[in-house]
Amino acid sequence: MHAQVYILAVFCLAAGVFPGNLPPFIHPCSKSDPNLNQCVEKAIQVAGPLFADGIPELGIAPLDPMKLGTVDVENPALNLVFTDTVVTGLKDFRVNSYKINTETGKAVFDFTANVTLSAKYNMDGRVLILDIRGNGQADIIITNLNIVIKYDYETKDGHWVVPKYKDNYKMDKAQFRFTNLFGGKNKELAATTLAFINESWEIIMQDISPPSIKNIIKRCVEEAKKLFAAVPAAELMLP
Ligand SMILES: *[C@@H]1O[C@H](CO)[C@@H](O)[C@H](O)[C@H]1NC(C)=O
Ligand SMILES: *[C@@H]1O[C@H](CO)[C@@H](O)[C@H](O)[C@H]1NC(C)=O
Repeated sequence: MHAQVYILAVFCLAAGVFPGNLPPFIHPCSKSDPNLNQCVEKAIQVAGPLFADGIPELGIAPLDPMKLGTVDVENPALNLVFTDTVVTGLKDFRVNSYKINTETGKAVFDFTANVTLSAKYNMDGRVLILDIRGNGQADIIITNLNIVIKYDYETKDGHWVVPKYKDNYKMDKAQFRFTNLFGGKNKELAATTLAFINESWEIIMQDISPPSIKNIIKRCVEEAKKLFAAVPAAELMLP
């Protein structure tokens, strides 16, 4: 046995997985299934919550909670930095549709989740007509965040790779909680400002959401890529 193969074998035994082994909660569909899309929809709906817990043996990080770290909202009018950002709720996602074309290697995954971003915030600047500043704890509660990921895939050395993807998203609503606005000194102004922010969620999210939600989507794609790298395509999709 080559030393490298031996080391890999020992590593895999220690980690409790064998190369090529499919996580038990993934029920692969068959390429020749006339209802392939529906089969994959169901498979993702079933496997998703467990996948979102992460698979340490395969180096797949949890998607719920998802640690996003620092998110910098770069806006000329508003300095806003979120730190220790944690996203929860993805695990309870609902698959709206999944479409795959095995001939062209294109797929579209459309899902919805109620998601909360929690972070420490530091903010100084202007939101619409209001001067706003503070630092404390922030929660952004998003109702029905709908994410659509269109990706290309090809098979390289027996594994799916995703050379590119495009995403877009929309939401039904976002609401905010910011503690310690204005240093906690002017409670009335803080309350008025918070009410205003909740009401103007749509405009505010146009500024705040791209860096955070793009990051969330990127992380989902990265963890899926790790799964594709660890499990052969032929096991993820049967002939
Ligand atoms: C999100 O929450 C709303 C109610 O707050 C509910 O109607 C909706 O079904 C939830 N969406 C998902 C994807 O669970
Ligand atoms: C804004 O929305 C959040 C979440 O629903 C709620 O907790 C908070 O009380 C609202 N703030 C105001 C001032 O309405």
